[in-house]
Formats: sequence, C-alpha cells, structure tokens
Amino acid sequence: MAMPDDDKFTLAELQKLHDLACSVARIAGAYLREDQLRRRRVALATREKLNSVDLVTAADEGVEKIIRDAILKEYPNHAFIGEESYSAGEEKRFLLKDGPTWIVDPIDGTVNMVHMFPMTAISIGFCLDSIPTVGVVFAPFLGGEGTLYSAIRHPSGGAWLSEFGTDGPRTPLPLVSPPPPLPIDAPKGCLFFGEYGKDRRDHPESNLSKKAANFVNMATETGGRGGKGGMVHGIRSLGSSTMDMVYVASGQGDIMFEAGCWEWDVCAGIAILLQTGGIVVDSNPPADLTDTDPIPMANLGGRRYLAIRACSEDAGGRSPRLQQERLVREVWKRTERLDYQRPM
Ligand code: IPD
Repeated sequence: MAMPDDDKFTLAELQKLHDLACSVARIAGAYLREDQLRRRRVALATREKLNSVDLVTAADEGVEKIIRDAILKEYPNHAFIGEESYSAGEEKRFLLKDGPTWIVDPIDGTVNMVHMFPMTAISIGFCLDSIPTVGVVFAPFLGGEGTLYSAIRHPSGGAWLSEFGTDGPRTPLPLVSPPPPLPIDAPKGCLFFGEYGKDRRDHPESNLSKKAANFVNMATETGGRGGKGGMVHGIRSLGSSTMDMVYVASGQGDIMFEAGCWEWDVCAGIAILLQTGGIVVDSNPPADLTDTDPIPMANLGGRRYLAIRACSEDAGGRSPRLQQERLVREVWKRTERLDYQRPM
C-alpha cells in the first residue's frame, strides 16, 4: 500500500489525529480496566453474534461510543466505521470510501477479555484514499499502565511503542534498528502468528481444517509433509489479530497469517506495520501471479492477510523487499487457500 497523498493532510494534521486517537484510546482503556475489575466481582453478561465464539459485551459497545463521540466531536465530517455499529446491522459490504475515514475495533480479542487473558486491544485506524495512514493500538492489560503502539505514515512520521503512560518515553519501532535480515532459510527459524478464527464448521474442506493443516505444515521439520514442512521456531495464536500484527511490526515475530477477520481487526496494525517497513499481502496467492511478478499488497477489506516484518539487506546483498517477497512465496507454498467471502 502506497503512502497517502501528502497534499491532502500535512504531517501536523496527521499528528493531531494521531494524538487524539492516542488520548481517546487511553480513556477507553481506563474504562475497560474498570470493567475488568467488575468482571472479577461478578460474571458480566456476553451476547453471541454468529456463534458461541463470536461474542460482544456491553464494554465493546461502551468503548465504541467513547471513541466515536470523541472523534466525531473533533471531526464531524469524517466517516466512522466501528465493529459494533457495523455488525449491529446485516450489512457486510466493504464500506470504506476514499474520504477521511476512521476504522475502529473497540475491543479486539473480546474472547480473551471475557477470560481475563490480557491479549486484548483497542484498535483505532485512520484511512485516507482507503490507505491505512494513522494507527493506534492500546493494550490496556499489558504493563502497569497499558501498552500503546502507534504510527503516522509519512516520510517524516514514525512508529512507536509507549509502555510508561502518556508522559513516559516512546521507543521507535521496530525494536531492533536496523532490523535484522530475515532468516536465510525462512520460514525456518521464524516466529509465526496465526489464528484459528470463528468459523468452526467441521468438514475436511472447512477453513478451520485448512488453517489447522497450514499451522502443522509451518511447524513440521524441513522435508516433512511432502516437502511442505516449514520448521518455524514456533506458532503463536494470541486470539487478537491486532496484537499479532503489532508484534510483527515490532519485530517480535516474523510472520502473521490470518484470514476471516475484518478491516477493523487489522487497519491500525497495518498502518503501524507499513510504517516500520513491513509488508502485508493476501494470504491466498493471486491466481495468475508468476514467480517473477511483483506481489500486490493486500486489499484492506479482503479478509485475508499475510504480514512479514521489516528487515535489512542480507549478507548476500538481497534487498528487504526481495527477502520479504521470497518469504511470502514460501508461506504460500505451505498453506492452502482459504475461503472467506463478503459482498463487495
Ligand atoms: C477477532 C480476533 C481473532 C480473529 C477473529 C477476529 P474480535 O476479533 O482478532 O484473533 O481470529 O477473526 O474477529 O471479534 O475479538 O474483535
């Protein structure tokens, strides 16, 4: 995904949007921490959406309202797509237009939150020309005061990790700079993030069966599984695509492979990943792509995402992009195509 057009929003304007998103994410995070304290005293109600693993709580709706009200007060002309208001209707079309648009998941990892597992994030993305341009991800249960990842996509922007509250120091991302080259035999030696997701249908061709087989392929020793063994260092399934994405953006993992999630699960994380030098492509290979064609970037509404971390030129002089694209092709060889639809 290209950088958004410079003339539309100056760096100062993007900075203002970014700072608003950071402060509203922290306010929403405080609300969630209160909610978690109540959860320890009494079992709070959840409602099911598609099935018993697709949950919504009053906190999802409360957080979305906090964020929407704060953003639209400051920017009444911007569009706002929030997971809860969107999925309250039957609408499943991709609604993103080219104008300034906020894409928000009030709680990514609702199942984790219900179980008090701390991989839960508030995800606030801002798009220009349908391109993720500002990303703010706040994990309120990680670290003493919560952990905030953010980025402004601009040649003079940046990506940062803030672990010590609003006034604490920020660490530039990726955490190791310059980032190391990808492992020479990647995916061997990589840390791989993948989610099982919410489609739990039980038949050999289901997305769940294929995802499980994909993960086994990636983990199996080199040469195993008919040549598909990837011998990755490990497979991690955090229950939050947002957190998977920011760990890859930070360089604390190498590959994120996820399908079935929606634009609000990944928009903010993609802005952060791209600003660090990572790439994100379709987790299904495009049908007519040859071995030498450049790989197109993912469609934000495409529901399938394969992200690779930033890296530096390797000892053989291979550019970061060459290494990343090589790894994408290696992952595609080992994974089956997944089928997630949406009306366009
Ligand atoms: C879910 C999480 C999960 C992913 C699902 C998402 P939610 O988001 O990101 O990791 O596998 O596809 O829907 O429902 O907790 O916001």
